[in-house]
Amino acid sequence: MQRNNLVPRRSILSVPGYRENMLQKSLGLDADIVMLDLEDSVPVDKKAEGRKKIVDFLKTTNNSGKTFSVRVNEINSAFALHDILDLLENCSDKIDSLIIPKVEDVSEIHFVDKLINSVSLSKGEEIKTGIEVSIESPKGLAKVNELAAASMRNISLVFGIADFSSALQMRMFSLSGHGENEKEDYPGHKWHYVLSSILIAARANGLSAIDAPFGNFGDLDGLRESAKLSASLGFDGKWAIHPSQISIINEVFSPTQEQINFALQAKEYYELASKEGKGSVSVDGRMVDGATYRLALKTLELVNKKR
Ligand code: COA
Ligand code: MG
Repeated sequence: MQRNNLVPRRSILSVPGYRENMLQKSLGLDADIVMLDLEDSVPVDKKAEGRKKIVDFLKTTNNSGKTFSVRVNEINSAFALHDILDLLENCSDKIDSLIIPKVEDVSEIHFVDKLINSVSLSKGEEIKTGIEVSIESPKGLAKVNELAAASMRNISLVFGIADFSSALQMRMFSLSGHGENEKEDYPGHKWHYVLSSILIAARANGLSAIDAPFGNFGDLDGLRESAKLSASLGFDGKWAIHPSQISIINEVFSPTQEQINFALQAKEYYELASKEGKGSVSVDGRMVDGATYRLALKTLELVNKKR
């Protein structure tokens, strides 16, 4: 599989790995990434069954046009080794990335990295599956820069809100970045520091940054509000836990037509101005210089990602 940074990561739908109907259903949904879960949505007595169902599903799903990732169990569990080996030995070509939950130490990422190398050698083919690092605890956040830089296979940092909230002893009713009733308790955006730290560590290492899911799937306004906050900071996307959330997440994490038009205009005007020896120009009453030009190019880069 070619590692493809052009794969958009706006919406990542989490699908419990042991629920065959949901696995099948995911093929007809519009999520950028289908994330097959072996961790917290799978009961302990169904871990082996879930692993087998995911392997069978991936092996028999061809030309679906979908990008798949799999969340394995945490490295310090009885399941992670078998999860990773079974997946890589049987269907590494179908798995864009492995999501590693609750990461707190670089040794966990090194372990996965070495396992991928080892299976590559035993299969005699290069496995291009990437690693996504889930930050779900104060310990993980304290080491976020180190974790982001721990492997060339890293492709993203993911915020795990539920475990983070319980580690902090936050009072929360449901999973929410904001947008639910938490703002009545605390009017600021209580995740600003955590999200910004994750985002900065991700960008400093050339990785994507992915926001946590919004648990109250009946509250689409709350979802939109939560998604807008992380999208405005610069996040690439957000997990979804229910099909009803996908279109809103895709919309919020895509540039608006107004932003695209402005970026196109800024690019054109700035390039013309440069030819005339100028370093800044006025576009629609806004100043565009070298930095704003690069910002416009970033917007256009997002538009050009394959959708
Ligand atoms: N992936 C694929 N299909 C899903 C889905 C998901 N995450 N969530 C719901 N669906 C399907 C249902 O199977 C149902 O399909 P059907 O109409 O063909 O029967 C349809 O979408 C509507 O679902 P609905 O009845 O509204 O929800 P539910 O009560 O079946 O499920 C949840 C609600 C929350 C239990 C379910 O969405 C879920 O398990 N989400 C994922 C949880 C998860 O992955 N957690 C770990 C990461 S945080
Ligand atoms: Mg978690």
